[in-house]
Amino acid sequence: MSFPEGFLWGGAVAANQVEGAWNIEGKGPSVADVATYKPNADVKDYKTHVSISMEAIEKAMKDTDDTYYPKRRGIDFYHRYKEDLALLAEMGFKVFRLSIAWSRIFPTGEEKEPNEEGLAFYEDLLKEMRRLNIEPLVTLSHYEMPLHLATKYNGWTDRRVVEYFVRFAKACFDRLGKYVKYWLNFNEVDSIIRHSFITAGIVPELCGEKGEPACCYQALHHQLVAAGMAARMLREQWPEAQMGCMLTKLMTYPRTCAPEDVAATQKKNLENMFYADVQVFGEYPRMILRDLEKRGFEIRMEPGDLEILKEGTVDFVSFSYYMSMTESVDPNAERTPGNTVLGVKNPYLESSDWGWQVDPVGLRISLIELYDRYKKPLFIVENGIGAKDTMETDGSVHDTYRIEYFRRHFREMEKAIDDGVELMGYTSWAPIDLISASTNQMSKRYGFIYVDQDDMGNGTLKRSRKDSFYWYQKVIRTNGADMD
Ligand code: BG6
Repeated sequence: MSFPEGFLWGGAVAANQVEGAWNIEGKGPSVADVATYKPNADVKDYKTHVSISMEAIEKAMKDTDDTYYPKRRGIDFYHRYKEDLALLAEMGFKVFRLSIAWSRIFPTGEEKEPNEEGLAFYEDLLKEMRRLNIEPLVTLSHYEMPLHLATKYNGWTDRRVVEYFVRFAKACFDRLGKYVKYWLNFNEVDSIIRHSFITAGIVPELCGEKGEPACCYQALHHQLVAAGMAARMLREQWPEAQMGCMLTKLMTYPRTCAPEDVAATQKKNLENMFYADVQVFGEYPRMILRDLEKRGFEIRMEPGDLEILKEGTVDFVSFSYYMSMTESVDPNAERTPGNTVLGVKNPYLESSDWGWQVDPVGLRISLIELYDRYKKPLFIVENGIGAKDTMETDGSVHDTYRIEYFRRHFREMEKAIDDGVELMGYTSWAPIDLISASTNQMSKRYGFIYVDQDDMGNGTLKRSRKDSFYWYQKVIRTNGADMD
């Protein structure tokens, strides 16, 4: 058993969680720039962390400080990317996943021409990656869009945003296409129903009588159409390039073998996969449309939309995988947090510091299930453990728990490959400590590289190698043969 030759080992980040530099060189405010660190909220209470209102947005925009808006400062990757890429190259990275901040290219989203300084930044970054022989994997939209599109149009609920996004995608393909072979459209496209503002710029109070869920499904349709248009455009312009979709793989098992639990679980898993179904098969699953109809949601489609979905399918399927959960019809079943979800607890699994249930075998099951369903190459583009790290007085960080997490997941990947799954690569989340997407904490650390910064933004931002840095370096050097 072994990883295929040319397997793409690496790591993944998102612009809004690392770059900082939120209001310079022409960048406009994005939805991520008003995301608040709420020190008194329970870290497991995602609803509180991701909640938003027009009042909160106005308050945030009056405040130019970044103390309570940590994504404004990130880890200053914008100015330190050369140092960071050098560390990734030292680990032997074959691929690095990053995203493009839309509001750096089109500050409000409505401009006709892109911001040159924004494009120049990404061009320099990609050139540096090419120089270091690191393959870029670029996400067009990862949890940020111009704030102006959120407040003026209620984000993706408005059809006009499709046109603005396509203009943004075109600007990226025109200027950056020559450096990029692998693109992703929307990060965790399914997450719209969990945090509609972060994913699609929806401010619930602007949804009016229709309510937030109805807005979400309409906005989702617009994103799927925009993804289809972007895929068609990429294919015409850069025939060698590939477009992938990106799904949060929320693996759910039945809590018991009672048929009611199994049926409830089946429904959950089908709901989770339908977003990728549309992008792989080019059409909405009949059962999902039926379900939306029964719940009173009507998706407005324009003439030509179904053709766009049909023609704009993806070349590969990527996904994030952190944890699994179970489902039960018992209303009293004990619940536990996961990746911005609350699931029924699995008594066979241990949990991370943030309560996410660690399940390496679930990754193997996911790989087999997704490959069997889609028959497309797969790419694991996020997987990792958020933990509280301690830096010793000599500057070392002994993160054995992280090494153990990765080792157990890699062994399961190996088994899936041995079973015949076509796996293109793996990018850990995240190779360097960054701001958490859900809680805006810095203290929830994922990296092989430690960044000296606390939750309030104090620290030197100095980068240091954790024990896991050297371990991952060895794994990559031996193409997974030595994981000890
Ligand atoms: C994924 C997101 O769902 O989970 C990332 O794509 C995010 O942006 C990651 O950072 C981990 O979640 P969190 O909330 O711990 O940062």
